[in-house]
Amino acid sequence: MRLRGRKGIKEALEAQPELVVLEPQAHKGRWREVFGNDRPIHVELGMGKGKFISELSALNPQTNYIGIDMYDELIRRGSEKARDSREVHGGDLSNLRLVRFNIEYLEDIFESGELDRIYLNFSDPWPKKKHARRRLTHAAFVRKYEKVLNDNGEIHFKTDSRSLFEFSLNSFADLGLRMRNISLDLHAEGPRTDLVMTEYETKFFERGMPIHRVEVVIGEKALAAHVKRLAEEDEAGAEPEGNAN
Ligand SMILES: C[S@@+](CC[C@H](N)C(=O)[O-])C[C@H]1O[C@@H](n2cnc3c(N)ncnc32)[C@H](O)[C@@H]1O
Repeated sequence: MRLRGRKGIKEALEAQPELVVLEPQAHKGRWREVFGNDRPIHVELGMGKGKFISELSALNPQTNYIGIDMYDELIRRGSEKARDSREVHGGDLSNLRLVRFNIEYLEDIFESGELDRIYLNFSDPWPKKKHARRRLTHAAFVRKYEKVLNDNGEIHFKTDSRSLFEFSLNSFADLGLRMRNISLDLHAEGPRTDLVMTEYETKFFERGMPIHRVEVVIGEKALAAHVKRLAEEDEAGAEPEGNAN
């Protein structure tokens, strides 16, 4: 995503400290204090213009959300989207923070076990083999996610890139992680209204391109809950259902 510099962005970001966090290192291990409650914290890594995290946080006021990207301009656009989404869905911005930061240094802003869920939506595919370590589902990144996620921890990953999806499934499998709700064409039977679409996803969906999705179960409690749900569904003779967001 190419962005041109714009005058006044820094001032615009500094003017909204209730929503925008420019020095997130200061909050490592204290994000629950930032939100003022003990509710789960879900993070989108590489939020782009912020459509997904803005809508999701407006729809789920009982969960705390953090959208991260490394560009000021995207954080500014995200802040506008966040306010727009409250106009549409109601509620306030207290369960959302937008953070300008480089994901590579994730462990500098989150303590071990501080997060409940990580969303990776349409991460840059870095198709050249020599750039494989830059892919956000490379084992080196996933190990960082494992560290900052807690017992309920999950990773939800969506992409249009078949090659990145294949690489990611292998990466998760090589780390011995449990995967569920794997889809090679998420919206094959029409748009999934139980899931919020991202900016990129909307674009690709409109072009008729298949979207790939997987949920990775990291935490022990998340795994136990998943296994229990499978057993219950099996007993009831029900078709397994995909989790919402
Ligand atoms: C292809 S866009 C996807 C945006 C959005 N998630 C969506 O689905 O519409 C990928 C985003 O990840 C961000 N990104 C890539 N690497 C990053 C890093 N190391 N730290 C922070 N953001 C990063 C980019 O700036 C870009 O906004």
